Amino acid sequence: MKSKGWDAELYEARHGFVWRFGEGVVEFLNPQPDERILDLGCGTGQLAAKIAAAGANVLGLDASPDMIGQARQNFPKLRFVLADAAKLEYENEFDAVFSNAVLHWILDRAAVVGGVARALKPGGRFVAEFGGKGNIRILESTIERVSAKYHGGQAPAKRTYYPSVGEYAALLEQHGLEVRSGQLFDRRTPLEGEDGMADWVRQFKWYYFEGLRPGQPEEALNELIEELRPKLYGPNGWFADYRRLRVWAVKL
Ligand SMILES: C[S@@+](CC[C@H](N)C(=O)[O-])C[C@H]1O[C@@H](n2cnc3c(N)ncnc32)[C@H](O)[C@@H]1O
Repeated sequence: MKSKGWDAELYEARHGFVWRFGEGVVEFLNPQPDERILDLGCGTGQLAAKIAAAGANVLGLDASPDMIGQARQNFPKLRFVLADAAKLEYENEFDAVFSNAVLHWILDRAAVVGGVARALKPGGRFVAEFGGKGNIRILESTIERVSAKYHGGQAPAKRTYYPSVGEYAALLEQHGLEVRSGQLFDRRTPLEGEDGMADWVRQFKWYYFEGLRPGQPEEALNELIEELRPKLYGPNGWFADYRRLRVWAVKL
């Protein structure tokens, strides 16, 4: 995420691994013909298209004009809407709500889960995967340390939410969703090419380097990359220390 928001071009060029890993989450969802399914935070639309390919009637929703614009261009026959996942206005409309790699970006988690619960039909399922407790522990602690140095000792506040299974299950239950499955697992994620880590930081963590003097963000980025190299650069190149939380819950 850069200051101007999500960058669809960089996302599609360098971060296709997000939806490629998400294909497993679509299989877990197991969409059926004619089901009405909401893809929450659909990005550039690749997983919405996979859900549609199963014969389901999918609606892709995303808060970024850039991402939704690209999704519409990629898949003109599918329906996409620009909206905030924390302000859903649907009532008993969907057989399933699906979400991949989105929910850790939204700090108002109660608003999201409340809206999802209202949007589902009774018996409908919520199937989601996102960053869970301990996600990018090495990456983020290093970014915070380098960023703090450039920001006079104090890194900018975190903008992500990485819950544990217990914490998220309690939240789902508070909103009338019965938790059938919750899993927290490490998923070391390869980043493409020699610039893979720098591209990842530019896309997902650039806010740690905003507000600095001209030239400083790139200087801080170079320093960060060298600090990360001994930790997250292996024989096959760069990787990120992702840990995912995958849940399946049903509206009672
Ligand atoms: C890493 S991308 C994942 C996109 C897609 N689900 C995929 O698997 O390729 C995260 C997406 O979450 C969206 N997003 C972040 N906050 C959001 C919010 N409050 N409401 C809706 N979408 C949001 C971003 O715009 C971005 O498209």
